[in-house]
Amino acid sequence: MAIFLDTGKIEEVKKYHAMGIIRGVTTNPTILLKDGITGGLEGVKKHTIEIAQFIKPYPLSVEVTTNDFSKMIEEAKAIADWEENINVKITIHGPNGELDNLSIIHALETKHDVRVNVTAMMSAQQCFLAAMAGASYVSLFCGRVNNMGYNSVEELEKLRNLLDDFDLKAQIIAASTREILNVVEWLDAGAHIVTVLPLFLNGMIVHPYTKETVQMFLDDAAKGANVS
Ligand code: E4P
Repeated sequence: MAIFLDTGKIEEVKKYHAMGIIRGVTTNPTILLKDGITGGLEGVKKHTIEIAQFIKPYPLSVEVTTNDFSKMIEEAKAIADWEENINVKITIHGPNGELDNLSIIHALETKHDVRVNVTAMMSAQQCFLAAMAGASYVSLFCGRVNNMGYNSVEELEKLRNLLDDFDLKAQIIAASTREILNVVEWLDAGAHIVTVLPLFLNGMIVHPYTKETVQMFLDDAAKGANVS
């Protein structure tokens, strides 16, 4: 799996998909709004179906737009029906710490054949419980963990050990990239996947010394071409 693209922009998806370096895409309501996707759930549907069809069979994560317990399960099922490679993001709990979401996640995974990406998690213990509930993906917001003064690498190491020890199927998505170094560091710490902002992929590819070396090759090729 390794690298997902954290974007709602179809042009970005096409660009990095053509390079063969991404294995999935993640979105959330904030990313979609920033990328100009409006029109409520219908707007999200139209746009994300286009991304899902383009990257198939790789997965796309689309988040529910409600925290209303009675509506969330129906919305999650509807989103999952848009395309077979769409998985549904649900936060570990509500904005006031409401505990209903784990039972929804469990029901979606075990009764409704919906793959769930449990999101907005800040600790290994949250991710472990989401994995126990049956989540296919657990998203640890590593950049936010670091921002709060905790060590995301330690959380990733603990989490990966727990998932392996208890033979849980969940794949760890390390999210909230803040710098280029995060990608390899988080994969090395145990993440199955890092979802990366397009900007940081550019930074991983381009190196100043490579630029200089390539220029030397081109200059010398040109010089050699002028000598018979
Ligand atoms: C991805 O799945 C997450 O929603 C995203 O990386 C969150 O990023 P942020 O913490 O920068 O909002």
